[in-house]
Amino acid sequence: MCLDFLTMNYHFKFKDRESTVRIIQNIPTREEILSSFEEISSDNTPVLFVCDCHTKHIAERIRDGKGPPLCILEAGEKAKNLQSLEIILNAAKNAGFARDSLFIAVGGGVITDMTGFAASIYMRGAKLSFVSTTLLGMADAAVGGKTGIDYFERKNLAGTFYPAHSVYMPISVLRSLPPEQLKSGFAEIVKTLILDKESDDLSWEELKPLKDLLENGFENRTGSEKPNSASETQEQILERLVSVSVKIKGRIVEADPEETGEQRALLNLGHSFAHALESSAGLGVLSHGEAVAWGIVQSCVLGRILGITPESRARKISSLIKDLGYQSMAPHPAMQSIDAFMTALLDDKKKKNGVLRFIIPAERGAVLIRLDNKQIGLIQDIAAGACA
Ligand SMILES: NC(=O)c1ccc[n+]([C@@H]2O[C@H](COP(=O)([O-])OP(=O)(O)OC[C@H]3O[C@@H](n4cnc5c(N)ncnc54)[C@H](O)[C@@H]3O)[C@@H](O)[C@H]2O)c1
Repeated sequence: MCLDFLTMNYHFKFKDRESTVRIIQNIPTREEILSSFEEISSDNTPVLFVCDCHTKHIAERIRDGKGPPLCILEAGEKAKNLQSLEIILNAAKNAGFARDSLFIAVGGGVITDMTGFAASIYMRGAKLSFVSTTLLGMADAAVGGKTGIDYFERKNLAGTFYPAHSVYMPISVLRSLPPEQLKSGFAEIVKTLILDKESDDLSWEELKPLKDLLENGFENRTGSEKPNSASETQEQILERLVSVSVKIKGRIVEADPEETGEQRALLNLGHSFAHALESSAGLGVLSHGEAVAWGIVQSCVLGRILGITPESRARKISSLIKDLGYQSMAPHPAMQSIDAFMTALLDDKKKKNGVLRFIIPAERGAVLIRLDNKQIGLIQDIAAGACA
């Protein structure tokens, strides 16, 4: 049975920059990517592919032996730093790049964030395209134009807003993702879907076929054999969910491209709890998505107590997250102590101009609230499991 993927294209305008997202089944060709730029002719324009050691085979296949060698960076968050940025800029300079040259990032959120940053500052702005290869990248990082690197031990301390002109999301590359990466990315999908005011939340019945996928990954991760029918079903569900997430995130970012209002901040649903949990568990102990999923459940508890999240919706979201195999109980078992959690939460507050902001699921979509100092004890109680 052949997968019948329809290419889905979304066109967005983020401030004055247009961005087209193409959700496709297979890895795009070099010509396909170049053809999204009217002014680029395939043989003369220098193109630099940036990837990491896990995505270099995908980048090499697209490069098709043409142009400068790949710029291959180390994989993972630890490589999201100034040195990597310098490596990209230096590779571009050595390739004779000018402003009309094209950077193509092939990878997850780390590679697209860094390449986006490099492209935005190279001669004050070069051309940019992404081939997103992780679930988190497709559902979140590759859409909306935030770029950056971690610096002075602060995540995304330096960065710009610079959307890629074209973004490709070849769903079949997700087959090689380890289950923990699928699970991490999927939490961001759940988050984005909760923000959608126009449709009902997903039902457990719809997501059931993904439970095994999030636990064990795709059956045939090397991609050497044809996927079985269960994998095909899982891929099709993922493709649909990625597509819905792109649409919702794209709309939110169009309304507030540089997070000057409150719209874009809604994408941080679950993140205040999640950041404090990640810090209190020790860096790298939990995946970001695991922490976000737990944070969404705690946001539901907070919303229920404040009378913002209807009881039935809070219950539905929380059981969906639990049924998908995420930890939902408070305190989270990875949390070293509730004191460590509160220290991290208050540190986050300091970084955000002394205001504690939470995104809370409402009757439909979600709303942003600010907590005053008197309410901080409530967060402590929720995180400690005293309000379940
Ligand atoms: N710009 C934004 O709006 C935005 C939004 C959310 C997250 N982010 C950023 O995204 C980053 C996290 O992204 P991520 O989770 O994609 O991390 P990542 O880019 O580090 O990828 C995770 C791991 O998967 C590997 N990988 C990538 N594609 C693969 C494939 N097809 N098969 C097998 N392995 C593959 C990578 O090499 C890496 O080891 C963070 O730095 C975060 O700050 C940015």
